[in-house]
Amino acid sequence: MAWVLWFLVHALTGWSVAETPRERLSLNAGWRFTKDDPAGVGDTLSYSRIKAWILPTGAELALQSGNAKTARPAGNPGADVPYTQPGFNDSRWRSLDLPHDWGIEGPFKMEYPGETAKLPWWGVAWYRRHLEIPAADQGRRIFLDVDGAMSYSTVWLNGQCVGGWPYGYSSWRVDLTPFVKFGADNVLAIRLDNPPQSSRWYPGGGIYRNVWLVKTAPVRVAHWGTHVTTPQVGETSATVKIDVRLDNSTDTDAVVAVRHEIFEFDASGEPGKLVASCVTPDLKIPAQQSASGETRAVLQSPRLWSIDQPQRYLVITTVERNGKAVDRYETPFGIRKIAFTADQGFLLNGRKVEIKGVCMHHDLGALGTALNLRALERQLEILKEMGCNAIRTSHNPPAPELLDLCDRMGFVVMAESFDCWRTGKNKNDYHVLYPEWHEQDLRALVRRDRNHPCVVLWSSGNEVPDQDKPEGPAIAREHASIIQSEDATRPVTTAVSSKKGGFSGFQKEFDVFGWNYKPAHYGEFRAANSGLPMVGSETSSCVSSRGEYFFPVSENKDHGKVDFQVSSYDLYAPKWATTPDDEFAGQDKNPFVAGEFVWTGFDYLGEPTPYNWDLTNLLNFTDPAQQAKAKAELDAQGKINSPARSSYFGILDLAGFRKDRYYLYQARWRPEIPLAHILPHWNWPGRIGQVTPVHVYTSGDAAELFLNGRSLGLKMRGDFQYRLRWDDVTYEPGELKVVAYKNGQNWATHTVRTTGTAALLSLEADRSILRSDGHDLSFITVKVKDSDGLLVPRAKNPIRFEIEGPGEIVVTDNGDPTGMEPFRSLERKAFNGLALVVVRANPGQAGEITLQAGSQGLKSATIRLSADGRETAATK
Ligand code: GAL
Repeated sequence: MAWVLWFLVHALTGWSVAETPRERLSLNAGWRFTKDDPAGVGDTLSYSRIKAWILPTGAELALQSGNAKTARPAGNPGADVPYTQPGFNDSRWRSLDLPHDWGIEGPFKMEYPGETAKLPWWGVAWYRRHLEIPAADQGRRIFLDVDGAMSYSTVWLNGQCVGGWPYGYSSWRVDLTPFVKFGADNVLAIRLDNPPQSSRWYPGGGIYRNVWLVKTAPVRVAHWGTHVTTPQVGETSATVKIDVRLDNSTDTDAVVAVRHEIFEFDASGEPGKLVASCVTPDLKIPAQQSASGETRAVLQSPRLWSIDQPQRYLVITTVERNGKAVDRYETPFGIRKIAFTADQGFLLNGRKVEIKGVCMHHDLGALGTALNLRALERQLEILKEMGCNAIRTSHNPPAPELLDLCDRMGFVVMAESFDCWRTGKNKNDYHVLYPEWHEQDLRALVRRDRNHPCVVLWSSGNEVPDQDKPEGPAIAREHASIIQSEDATRPVTTAVSSKKGGFSGFQKEFDVFGWNYKPAHYGEFRAANSGLPMVGSETSSCVSSRGEYFFPVSENKDHGKVDFQVSSYDLYAPKWATTPDDEFAGQDKNPFVAGEFVWTGFDYLGEPTPYNWDLTNLLNFTDPAQQAKAKAELDAQGKINSPARSSYFGILDLAGFRKDRYYLYQARWRPEIPLAHILPHWNWPGRIGQVTPVHVYTSGDAAELFLNGRSLGLKMRGDFQYRLRWDDVTYEPGELKVVAYKNGQNWATHTVRTTGTAALLSLEADRSILRSDGHDLSFITVKVKDSDGLLVPRAKNPIRFEIEGPGEIVVTDNGDPTGMEPFRSLERKAFNGLALVVVRANPGQAGEITLQAGSQGLKSATIRLSADGRETAATK
């Protein structure tokens, strides 16, 4: 009983642990999980029955709407439910570690809605965990911090209902202290209740982000209690303003000194040099209340945060009471100046920066929504290489780790809150919660994330149906006032989809107007709204399947569809959307536009437009009569149930493989890179003698195409032209080569060749040394090649994977939006020549991992990875 000894030592020395600085412990390991309620629960635990116990959790964030009732009613919901009881035997439940997404485990079913990926993410589920809280913690405050749980969470500790939070994308805290048994085993039970018809994309289900146990002294920095801003930024000095809010849960007034030390992060990403410090002496916090203090420090020769040099700083705040440190709180931040202007767009540190952004949903492809730092980092690395410098967290608050990565890697972020306000898009979506929760959810987003230098815009919504209603402006105004009261240093926007919204007066409610899919109207907008900055908050929505090309190549954006795939000539888009080229032209003709956020960076689970129709998601999929009606309608249109389950919008596919469009964006966003890219591939045995158009994306200004050594002509890029086209090429097998020029000089070449049949497999890992922390991943690309080593572009060979050594195959994928094999399958067909295997090292184990890929008739491939045996995650 080490804690007894520890307690005695401290009791004898008169030093109480209750007064020690905070600890933040990961609570991800060691959970038990089951789906569904036990028999007899009925609707007794439904949100509508127990919300009076849930609303107080948000009380601190309900300042102006007065929605959250601080007073908890008498009674204890769930007291009679066995799963909440500490003595309940959960040993038959599944054991797992968080983050966890139960939906991604599948199975895919045709009868599930394609809109949400044909995966079973809805329903009730329970998580339980034992928790030893030492007696020495008596007197401390004990909090549970949940970064995100999907959705309608209710928390019990030792059978007592503590509180909860309904919105699945918010981060939240419950105070466990009143229910903790110090010096004993405690049992946490969390119930989630994910309603069907609550999302337009795959939301996932489960405690899908990190969970923490936070222990503090009773006098402490409040939850998300610091706000670090830089009111003056110059080359020689910067003023850093630190606002801190402190809580006192004792029955006596507390007088504290608050000391802040500012450190500069060094090149390894660790806080290094101390660069400034300041103190607020004698701050009084009345008993059982809060108080705030403001301090400023001046930093000499500040190193500014930018996209190219994302320099970060760290404030370490120490709260001293009676000369003793009772809390220590860390706030990373950055020093930079941002401005959105009506004429020049976005300025970062006084320089115009074109926003080259993408919208991203929160899933990580085959890994589902369960947060994985490496998977997120990989996405950002690939986007960065393309030249992307901005992320829109469509359409909800992101995982905090995404913003940490954007701070470190140099992306600016438009952080978004909701996909709807009062009026919903789905029967059970956020509009149900909106009246009682929007203030708390908005404040939770801004308060949590306002110190991130990467965040440059707050968005209070996406294409909300209220945008064109008479009450739209008043709602937008209320949101802006909530956001500004948490953080007045960043502009507020909303992504507006209606054309009217740019002229009706609604636009005037925003500091920056965000417009979706309107490149043809940018000029009109400026003429009518001279002083209002504007950004393309959602653009293009081009659809394509990697490696699929259909003929004849039609200019009609509604065409290009065959067998639930979409042609990759990048000419196809839904009716509200445009080609990437049309958006580029809109921006180039209207340079006042701050840039764009393309829909989307990566393909995501769900919303498989243009095949986003099936028997189930047209109408209520739980109602057989409505289903029958929907089926009759689809039959009448000659449509069969669609097997599509993930999107076609991505510049990269679901597995993270580059589609042709990647090079179109790279050519525009990184014009300094010599680039030429030909499409399509050149394996068309059935097209000999037929017209097979060739398009080239290049950062050059002209290019000449050669087929088997014969020139097919030199083409120059005209104004507002973003691709070069040879639309009358007659197909013959062989070699197609493009030579691109810039300013009359050779600039870049690209060659595609007709390949032989599939002969061998190859494996390439994005990292060959894995940390053994249970999270680090290696993403391994599998290629099907001919005997000359050329990728066979139409290969669909089934591939089997085997692994040996201290590692496991977590998932496999191939980027096909119609695949129904579970992502955990060890067998995967190549999709147009490629497949993906994701490998993790076993926690704590070191050694060599061997992955083998085999397919009948093909030479197999082997790759060796090494697990480093280090259990701790990198801290950077
Ligand atoms: C937009 C919407 C996105 C996505 C996109 C597809 O209207 O904001 O969430 O649905 O369309 O094109």
